[in-house]
Amino acid sequence: MAYSNNVRPMPEKPNFHMTPEEFRRHGKAVVDWIADYYEHVESYPVMSQAKPGQIRASLPKNPPAQGEPFEAMLKDVEKLILPGITHWQSPNFFAFFPSNTSFPSIMGEMLSAGLGVQGMLWATSPACTELETHVLDWLVDMLALPKSFSSSSNGGGVIQDTASNSSLCALLAARERATNYASNEHGCDGRLVAYTSSQAHSSIEKAVKIAGLGRENLRLVEVDETFAMRPAALAAQIKNDTAAHRIPCFVSATVGTTSSNAMDPVRAIGEICREHKIWLHVDAAMSGTAALCPEFRWIHDGLELADSYCFNPHKWMFTNFDCDCFYVADRKALINTMSVLPEYLRNQATESGAVIDYRDWHVPLGRRFRALKLWFVIRHYGIEGLQHHVRRHVELAQQFASWVRNDTQFELAAPVPLNLVCFRHRAGDAVTQAIMDRLNQSGDLYFTHTKLDGKFTLRLCIGQTATELQHVQSAWLRIREEAAAAKA
Ligand SMILES: Cc1ncc(COP(=O)(O)O)c(C=O)c1O
Repeated sequence: MAYSNNVRPMPEKPNFHMTPEEFRRHGKAVVDWIADYYEHVESYPVMSQAKPGQIRASLPKNPPAQGEPFEAMLKDVEKLILPGITHWQSPNFFAFFPSNTSFPSIMGEMLSAGLGVQGMLWATSPACTELETHVLDWLVDMLALPKSFSSSSNGGGVIQDTASNSSLCALLAARERATNYASNEHGCDGRLVAYTSSQAHSSIEKAVKIAGLGRENLRLVEVDETFAMRPAALAAQIKNDTAAHRIPCFVSATVGTTSSNAMDPVRAIGEICREHKIWLHVDAAMSGTAALCPEFRWIHDGLELADSYCFNPHKWMFTNFDCDCFYVADRKALINTMSVLPEYLRNQATESGAVIDYRDWHVPLGRRFRALKLWFVIRHYGIEGLQHHVRRHVELAQQFASWVRNDTQFELAAPVPLNLVCFRHRAGDAVTQAIMDRLNQSGDLYFTHTKLDGKFTLRLCIGQTATELQHVQSAWLRIREEAAAAKA
């Protein structure tokens, strides 16, 4: 139907909703649009070339007084929004850690939006809770996680929005356990201390601020030459703090640090935590997915000593953002920490004690039906399909690392345990940075940097759904071309 003046005609009776028939039509157009986008995503400049304020300036100053036709909105996505998109799903996206997705996941997300349920309590949609429990138990087996994390033991898993929130919940539970649940009642004891390595993700520092421990009570433990936490340095710090009448309550170990994919030695750290009765959280945000493959499960050695663990299917397991899986070995500690029960949430199922109410497992009350997309991903790929793609990414990264290793101009800056390669030009920081800046500006690929041993270091992470050998080959070719240009 054609509309005049870009205004939807007034319905006869005042009802401005889209009809199921219109939704059917426009919804199909949206699916087509998404499919076309994926077919052509490689042709866009990977990093958005938009200047600050450019997208906003292209938008109408005022909201429409009268509703607009859907076609106009979809056209504007193409015209106004796409220029401001960095194409995370491009096979030439190698920046940060991936945030990959897949069509089964997208369809799970659509159904979740379509059902529109809010799963704060078991009673508000039993399937939302029970599917989540079930899929998280599947993942315990799929990743060979300790049985203590399964819902059939004293622990269990829950989907959180992000690893940041999982770490926060772990820290809050650690704080409460260490103070016999008194901090929730009387405020935080200023003597509580948390530990993580100097290479840990910034979300740990943020959690320490939010949980009220105070940043001065976070110890950034020294790392070894592979950028992994030194257990002896951790033990020494704990000893100092205990001698000063402080209360060590929380250690966060990282399986795959953001900077360089370093693997903290979980077993040695876990033994120290057990000795001192300290909560051990393991943050495996990206790298945890590798444990789908038995040959990479060494990254989790000692995980049975952990009190909590998280990894993000929204990074490397083809499940669109957001989806973080958070596990605890003792669900009571978490629930006692988080639970508040106002009258308006009371219901028979909760009172019976026979159900899980996930609202007690994290900060927000409301929760989306995220398990659907994870369920679809696991069912579509099967364990073997997921293993295949994870192995392929690791193989490609190892291939790239071997090219760097054999090149006289470049050097590896850290070990390459999985799918992240850290490297730099031997000519120094200026040339290394120029290579990155020129390539990112070119739109051909997108990668980011870190500093290791005080030196500017490039990070190339291989984990996007559609990345294949030819993308990695052409990245290496372009990197060498730009190195030649930067030196000229
Ligand atoms: C090791 C690690 N932990 C935590 C995070 C934070 O992840 P999220 O965005 O899910 O909070 C990241 C992000 O890259 C990470 O690499």
